[in-house]
Amino acid sequence: MVQLRLPQNSRVQEGISHPLKGPLGEGAKTSFKIYRYDPDGGRNPSLDSYEVPDSCGPMVLDALIYLKDHVDSTLTFRRSCREGVCGSCAMNIDGTNTLACTKPIADIKGPVRIYPLPHLPVIKDLVPDLSHQIQQYTSIKPWIHAPEAPPLKERLQTPEERGKLDGLWECILCFSCSTSCPSYWWNGDAEPQNYLGPAVLLQAQRWLVDSRDTATEERLEALDDSFSLYRCHTIMNCTKTCPKGLNPAQAIGNIKQKLARFVLVFWISVVSCSGAVMAKVEEIYSELLEDSSGPEEDYPSDASDNDEDEEEDEEDEEEEGDDENSEKPSED
Ligand code: SF4
Ligand code: FES
Repeated sequence: MVQLRLPQNSRVQEGISHPLKGPLGEGAKTSFKIYRYDPDGGRNPSLDSYEVPDSCGPMVLDALIYLKDHVDSTLTFRRSCREGVCGSCAMNIDGTNTLACTKPIADIKGPVRIYPLPHLPVIKDLVPDLSHQIQQYTSIKPWIHAPEAPPLKERLQTPEERGKLDGLWECILCFSCSTSCPSYWWNGDAEPQNYLGPAVLLQAQRWLVDSRDTATEERLEALDDSFSLYRCHTIMNCTKTCPKGLNPAQAIGNIKQKLARFVLVFWISVVSCSGAVMAKVEEIYSELLEDSSGPEEDYPSDASDNDEDEEEDEEDEEEEGDDENSEKPSED
């Protein structure tokens, strides 16, 4: 039976209020409410309150580090590069999955509410268990497949071939996108097949368009089931939340296009008995495998694009309305 309420022992309770402490005690300060949970403690999760001096630094991660150093050393979170390139500080801040090290405190109104990435098992406080996501990433075999021995120097690409990787290679695997996706919450750990989610599918596209990789056919076949790829319903949360400004929804759309062409060509070749048709199919087939990028489908990169479109539509409608009014004969 579907469980619609959280079990009693997982409801978040009001936690402890920690007084302002540390060397930067004077001056303006910001309130933080931070999710705390220790699975070994046997207690429900709680939302602890903290005060942090604004002079601790501009980013949410600066405040977390200040709290850990001076107020509560048990506060647990991941971080490494502090520059938005390792992906380890991804968490839900002010209702959005993002990176603590690149999220300015000044952008948040009211108390800064911080939770771990949604819908993942929590190891402790703000640290989620990403084992399943890493296993899904491994399943797409994220490395170059090329049967011939590597050349003495590097495997060369033309600037155009290299350009196809732009918008894909920048992914830092923070999993902010996958954990913001309702379809991934629902299908990400289904058995025996599951939805790979936007982060892993963006990586799949990264290898599909790499001109040095020769395993396009195998990679597409591996995604050709009802869950791995097709549980994406273009909800677009992934693109809206990505802290690197990438567009996983577009990457997924491009894989769907490529797979549709791939399957179509395969079935034409199966049912065809004409030599001429077979030759044509083989030609299309080899073109498909060579030009693995396919035509790019244009998806808005974020919600603001939609807003702009809506504004333009409204302006057009207003103009049309004016035109209509000007043509309408006066009732007088
Ligand atoms: S696509 Fe963006 S949000 Fe998703 S894992 Fe990569 S960097 Fe993170
Ligand atoms: S600490 Fe590396 S991305 Fe934030």
